Order: sequence, then structure tokens, then C-alpha cells
Amino acid sequence: MPNGPSCSLLIGGDIAPMRESGKGLLGAAAPLFKAADVATANLEHALARSGKLMKGKPFFHRGHPELAEGLAEAGFDVLTVANNHMLDWGEESLLETLQVLRKHNLPFTGAGRNLAEAAAPVVIERKGLKIGVLAYSSTLPMGFPAGEDAAGVNPLRAATAYRPLPGRDPNEYPGVAPEIVTWAIPEDLERMRDDIWALKRKADVVLVNMHWGTSMTPRVNGFQREAGRAAIEAGADAVFGGHQHVLSAIEFHKGKPILHCTGNLIFDKFEPFFTGETLKTFLFGATLTKEGVKDPYAVPCKCGVGEPCQVLPPGDSLEGEIVRQLNDLSAPYGVRLERRGGRVAVLPPA
Ligand SMILES: [Fe+2]
Repeated sequence: MPNGPSCSLLIGGDIAPMRESGKGLLGAAAPLFKAADVATANLEHALARSGKLMKGKPFFHRGHPELAEGLAEAGFDVLTVANNHMLDWGEESLLETLQVLRKHNLPFTGAGRNLAEAAAPVVIERKGLKIGVLAYSSTLPMGFPAGEDAAGVNPLRAATAYRPLPGRDPNEYPGVAPEIVTWAIPEDLERMRDDIWALKRKADVVLVNMHWGTSMTPRVNGFQREAGRAAIEAGADAVFGGHQHVLSAIEFHKGKPILHCTGNLIFDKFEPFFTGETLKTFLFGATLTKEGVKDPYAVPCKCGVGEPCQVLPPGDSLEGEIVRQLNDLSAPYGVRLERRGGRVAVLPPA
């Protein structure tokens, strides 16, 4: 047992429900979230009836407000709402969603009527520990970032450039692929640092959600490492990301985890580009203390598409594949996953 106050944490992936009823939405994962002192996940789209579809967006999502019952049933302590679908039906729909969450006593962070609201953290107290949560999105369709007087999501903008590979002169290698270079926009990074630093003065533990990465690839972009590390150096105890729809690496910086993508936990609209890979997901659990995250572990799950998500038992073939894949993706960062005492322990570099 750790010295001083401690409580349990459980993080889930992206939740995008579009089914009839919210009842039993999270299946066997619901009691796990309910049992955790701090349970969180990313609500990927609006739960509303109002609003007008944003034109020009290739993929759009929205569920009806009653689906929030499924989130309340799982007892989420904080939902993060900074992502690339929250405003698919515009501001009215976003604001209705936030009202729906309030009505169900589901605290949220990452979106609001203006930037100040979108950037406001949630602080909760559990077993003598104050836990603060912030959420950012780097996936920002036009009109999504919150502004001084504009509703939207809390932005952490990233820039992308394509650089010819050194030694691969296109005259000699016609058609050669360029190197993809990304970086976080310095003023957004600075704002994030300030907000985390300020939150760390009020909370014992700071958790930061990032909606980032490139859809359908486990690749860890340069800006993710830059922003993840900056968050931890400013005082975050864990950074947990999503949006890619597929599993990505787990790394540690200064002993604190950065989950690059936990995958789709509930995604009812099976997009035409989705594959079997988009069914792989996991919950990330740990004990929180004043020192941060202790004894982290992963719970492999299968994404719910029109049905509850499934908690996969050890020995299940998909469970084994998820553990193997997370191991392969995280190995370059010196992180291993190992079965220990009935759990899949996440082991930081020695
Ligand atoms: Fe997303």
C-alpha cells in the first residue's frame, strides 16, 4: 500500500454511441468504471437533437440525448469532450450536449461557450486526493476551436510540413515519399503549460487528455511527443490520448505515462475505412497518489459497435493480440506489458 492518500483510476477510449438506448452501453466495463474512484473517457460526439449539420465535413456523428444514461450508469467522474466531432452539428448541438451532461451529473472538460470555459479543468476530490483533469484537441475541423467569444473545443493546434528526405533527391528518386514533420503551435503549447502549471497548484494529481494523432495509423507524430512531454514537464501526472481508432504506443516521460491512443471503446458508426484493427481497445488502470500514477495496468477490450463493449478474458485470442500489439508498439520506448497477478501490468523502462 502506498503511503499517504491513494485512489484508483480507470481510463477508457473514445465513445461515439448512435444506438437506440443507452441502457447497458458499456456492458461489463460499466462496473469496472463504477468501481474506480476516478473513471474517465472521451465522449466523441454530441448527444443532442438541436443544431445544423456543419457543411463540408466528410464524417459526422451525433447521438440522441438519452444515450447519456449509459454514461451515467457507468458512473464516469469526468468526461473529456475536446475532439473533432463535438461540433458536427454546430454550436447549438454542443451546448445542448453540455446541458445533457450537467443534467446527468457527468462533469466534463474540453469544450464550452468560449475558450475560458473550454479550457476550464474539472477538479474532483477522492479519498483525500484532489484530481484535476484537462482536455485538448489537436484534430480541429474549421470552426471547432473555441475562441474568446466563440464556442468550441480547447485547441492545441499542430502544424504539418512535408520535407524531402536527405539523400533522396526526387531527380534521382522520382516519386519518393517526403518526411512528415509536425510540431505544436508554440502559443498553444505555452497556454497548455500555463494551464497545467496552474492546475497543479490546486490539485494533487493532474490528468491530461489529448485528442491527437493521425486517423488509422499507430504512428506517433513529433508534435505528440513534444506536447506529451511538455504536459508532463509542466506538472501532468498522466497524458492519455485518442482519435486514431487503432492502438498506439505507451511511453513514459520522467516516470509518467503517455498513452498515445487507447482506441475506440464504443463506435456505433462503422466508418467505411474501419477494419478489424478498430475493434481493439483497452482500459488503462492505475493507483493515484500524490506522486502520480502507480502500478499501471491494461484491460484489453473489444469495441462495441451497436452493442456493449466487451471486457476480454485472459486466453481470448483478441485479448492476446491486443497485449502483443501494445508490446510491439511500446517496445521502442522501453515499455513492456506483462501478465502479473491476474493483470496485464504496464512496465515503464527500468
Ligand atoms: Fe476523433
